[in-house]
Amino acid sequence: MISPEELVAKAREAARNAHVPYSHFHVGAAVVADGRVYTGVNIESASYGLTLCAERSALASAISAGDKQVSEIAVACVDAPDGAPLNTRTPCGACRQWMIDLAPDAVIHIDGGVDEQGKPVIHSMHVRDLLPNAFQL
Ligand code: THU
Repeated sequence: MISPEELVAKAREAARNAHVPYSHFHVGAAVVADGRVYTGVNIESASYGLTLCAERSALASAISAGDKQVSEIAVACVDAPDGAPLNTRTPCGACRQWMIDLAPDAVIHIDGGVDEQGKPVIHSMHVRDLLPNAFQL
């Protein structure tokens, strides 16, 4: 079992590999699927709309490896300043839909930077609570 702190650390580490020549906003994600950890980063395109977010990148990696049961997701927007509002760190709408599709029962741990005392902050919630009334087939 990996702790939320360890999973967030893996997301933060992965963020170093983000390909972000346009926004310079590094995002890393780490998912636990069938007990194994997969990471992903945001990958930007010169055709901006083709950008892939870190969360979908990590989920694609897990699914591509054949591990389907996603139990936990961590995401780290490492360039968001400490004390910035939570909505500068939460997954975008497209990623929320992917999470509902591929990890509806997962818990997500959102890196919140550090508080005024320098203590790391993690916001944990259920994927279902991130996208109420989600579309499903
Ligand atoms: N980004 C993610 O990787 N995940 C999200 O859920 C929100 C946004 C990326 C996309 C783009 O490369 C950069 O952050 C700025 O929007």
